[in-house]
Amino acid sequence: MRVRAFAKINLSLRVLGVRSDGYHELRTVFQSVALHDTLTIREWAGPFALTCNDPRCPTDRRNLVWRAAEAVWKVAGRPARSRGRGAPPGLSIHVSKRIPMDAGFGGGSSDAVAVIRALGREWRVAEGRQRAIAAALGADLPYFFEGGTVLGLERGDLLFPLVDHPAAWIVLAIPACGVSTTEAFSWLDADRAERPRSERSRLTVTNDLQGPVSRHHPEIARLVRALEGAGASRAAMSGSGSGVFGLFAERAAAIRAAAALAALGNRRVSRFTPRVLVTRTVSRRAYERLAGN
Ligand code: C5P
Repeated sequence: MRVRAFAKINLSLRVLGVRSDGYHELRTVFQSVALHDTLTIREWAGPFALTCNDPRCPTDRRNLVWRAAEAVWKVAGRPARSRGRGAPPGLSIHVSKRIPMDAGFGGGSSDAVAVIRALGREWRVAEGRQRAIAAALGADLPYFFEGGTVLGLERGDLLFPLVDHPAAWIVLAIPACGVSTTEAFSWLDADRAERPRSERSRLTVTNDLQGPVSRHHPEIARLVRALEGAGASRAAMSGSGSGVFGLFAERAAAIRAAAALAALGNRRVSRFTPRVLVTRTVSRRAYERLAGN
C-alpha cells in the first residue's frame, strides 16, 4: 500500500498566550501544499520495520510513524508482542522523504497521520478513534485529517475549515539550521518576558515565532526579506521554522524567485546556503482525493 503525506505551511501564526498545561494558545491558518512524502506499507515476515531514504531521519520509536503504528495496533485490539515494543509485527513501512525535516512544514506529523489513516482503515479503526490517536501524538497532527485552508485554535488542534486560499505558487526556502518546536516557543517566551509589548511588533510579520527564532538564526529573517524582495505577495517563516515560504500568483515568478534565492545563498549567506523548492497550494478537495482514504 502506498500513501502520500503532504506538507503544510502556516499562512499565519499568532501566539495568544501560555496555557495552564504549558502549551501555547494559538491562532493559526494552515495551508496544505503539493510537496509530499510517500509511504510504502507492506506485509513482511519479520518484526515491525521502519526505513527511510534520508539517513538523518530516525527509524526507531523517536519517529512519530513508529508511535502511530504502535497506537493504531493497540487500539485495534491486536495482540501485544514484546518484540518491537508493541509495534505491529509483520509490517514494514518505508518513508520516502521529500519534506525537509525540522523546518516547520509538518512532515513528521503528516507521515504519522498517513499511517494512522492507512492502518486504521485496514484494521477497521473508526475515524473518531484515529483522530484521537493523532491528537495524542502531537498538536500538529489533527490538521492532516482536513487539508486545504484551515483555522487552528487552542494548541492549533481545534480546527475550523475555511474557504480555500486562492491557488498560489509557493517558494520554500530552508536554511541549513533546523529549529525544534519546543525551543522556538521557549525563545518566544524569553523574548516576551524581556521586551515590552510596544517594542515587539514593529515588523508586520504574520508569524509571532519568526522574530524570536530569527534572533537565534538571522538567516531566517534574511530569507523572508529575500522572498519579499523577489516579489512574493506574502512571505514568512512556517510554524516554528526554520523553513520560510513566499507566495506567488504565477509559476514563472515563483521559479525566478527560487533561482534568485539559490544564487543569494551562494553569494551572501554562503555558510547558510538554503535549500529552495517550488510547490503550490492544494485545495481541500484535492487533498481529500490525493491523501484521503
Ligand atoms: O505537540 P507537539 O509535540 O508538536 O509540540 C512540541 C512542543 O512545542 C511542545 O512540547 C511545546 O513545548 C511546544 N508547543 C507549544 N504550544 C503549541 C504547540 C507546541 O508550546 N500550541
